[in-house]
Amino acid sequence: MSKVTVVGAGNVGATCANVLAFNEVADEVVMLDVKEGVSEGKAMDMMQTAQLLGFDTTLVGCTNDYAQTADSDVVVITSGIPRKPGMTREELIGVNAGIVKSVAENILKYSPNAILVVVSNPMDTMTYLSLKSLGLPKNRIIGMGGALDSSRFKYFLSQALGCNANEVEGFVIGGHGDTTMIPMTRFATYKGMPVANFLSEEKLKEVAAATMVGGATLTKLLGTSAWYAPGAAGAFVVESIIHNQKKMIPCSVFLEGEYGESDICIGVPVILGKNGIEEIVKLELNEEEKAAFAASAKAVHATNAALKEVGAL
Ligand code: LAC
Repeated sequence: MSKVTVVGAGNVGATCANVLAFNEVADEVVMLDVKEGVSEGKAMDMMQTAQLLGFDTTLVGCTNDYAQTADSDVVVITSGIPRKPGMTREELIGVNAGIVKSVAENILKYSPNAILVVVSNPMDTMTYLSLKSLGLPKNRIIGMGGALDSSRFKYFLSQALGCNANEVEGFVIGGHGDTTMIPMTRFATYKGMPVANFLSEEKLKEVAAATMVGGATLTKLLGTSAWYAPGAAGAFVVESIIHNQKKMIPCSVFLEGEYGESDICIGVPVILGKNGIEEIVKLELNEEEKAAFAASAKAVHATNAALKEVGAL
């Protein structure tokens, strides 16, 4: 029996639960929210799609009842407020730090062995906060940002190439922020061939820039932050863990010297399997990429420092 809990049944959490159920990633998916009836309603609504879509996963909704989440293998934390147009993810820290910390503590009371996937923003800092405040081994705390950013990168590459997004490979490292993301254009390929064979340097710069503000662009269009790709990215990360797929996915993880950084959670490629982070993959970065990574880490450290100011650490 595999069980996944998604905390926060807002747009991102509900989408994540829906994708998990539809893809039968786990036998049971529990949604928990603070708003009375919302999780129960969404779970019932999704269960009524089971015969239409042909899935067997059981969905359960509950209002703040952590006992229902007991013995989850993986827990996705999406709780907190989303950003409004014009806001940065970093501006959410004061409110979301308190929420994420208390959610994570409650979760561990009932699922002491769970692997946590952090989605709440600012994602790298919320991952760091969870790691520091819970004292769990670092393989069990994973921020999902790089999975989302890489998917957006592949989308923008496919648009520029005029090709199917599934034929494009590419990934994004660094922080999950409008100015901290590092789309790794040098490693991106179309059917195994470097994208630079097909696109000009200028076009590739445009693709990277569009990727970096991918979330902000959607926030402006939607009036709140996006949910389909963020929810699916969370489910993608969970699937690699629950099914021990050992996929290489860029995620925000705790570094202890890798990539020249320590005491930080930031996006780098990792292998995800049944133990959570099975391995941190080391890339040979060139000088420009190293400088970009160092600058990204500096910005994430600065946001982490705000955790002390708001009394969360
Ligand atoms: C985004 C938010 C969820 O990038 O961080 O859409």
